[in-house]
Amino acid sequence: MDNNAIGVFDSGLGGLTAVKELNRILPNENIIYFGDTARIPYGTRSRETVLRYAREDVAFLLRHPVKMIIAACGTVSSVLGTNSPVEDMPFTGVLYPAAETACAVTKNGRIGVIGTPATIRSGSYEHAMHTINNDVCVTAMACPLFVHLVEYGYTDRNNKITRLAAEEYLEPIRNAQVDTLILGCTHYPIIRDIIADIMGDDVNLISPGEEAAKFAKRCLEERELLTDRTEKGKNRYYVSDSVSMFRENAKHFLEDAAHGQVFSSRI
Ligand code: DGL
Repeated sequence: MDNNAIGVFDSGLGGLTAVKELNRILPNENIIYFGDTARIPYGTRSRETVLRYAREDVAFLLRHPVKMIIAACGTVSSVLGTNSPVEDMPFTGVLYPAAETACAVTKNGRIGVIGTPATIRSGSYEHAMHTINNDVCVTAMACPLFVHLVEYGYTDRNNKITRLAAEEYLEPIRNAQVDTLILGCTHYPIIRDIIADIMGDDVNLISPGEEAAKFAKRCLEERELLTDRTEKGKNRYYVSDSVSMFRENAKHFLEDAAHGQVFSSRI
């Protein structure tokens, strides 16, 4: 048993997709979230820069009482691959949990992946899925505008600009006749409705943040590190830029982030 918090980080709002799922499946756990909103986006930066940012984000979380760290960022997870940035503590990115689920649910063996330019350039989702099943056929597409659209709050199902961008980006994925699509950046599930409308009802959409949260639960269970708290856990949010901007955008997506404690923090 361990009553310390689960540490979660991302460049911005995207990691809240993991927090939302953690709150659902592990309601008694405390969460400490760090969103590096002053340096977003990560996905257009070089591998070296993303690695440096990831190490700094981890160091920030380690200054708090945490028992596990989740890199709830597709870009960081892709750049790290199987290398853990922490010692003596459970760690997961979003890549492998999402790749495993996609390989498990596909029926026709055609899987799409969308992500940031850095994620798609790394080829890491393809590599992870081919390690699990060499026969799956993967179609990958970078969607650089999505992160900005989400951070600006252009997330409504009827938002014309986001819909237009999504139609353009998703065309090659639709043409590849995938039955499963990994939303390979944790920001993308925030515009899931728009993506679902374009892809159609028959396509499974995989949220990497959700899959990482489920993986974290299994990991903490196996190591007997779950809390024994019986009351609801608390979320604390830290951001490296404006608290009010974070609250404003997060409220469309995660009720608690708008009302809970949000702190501004330098890393
Ligand atoms: N949400 C992150 C990801 O999954 C980061 C997006 C970005 O900062 O470019 O890739």
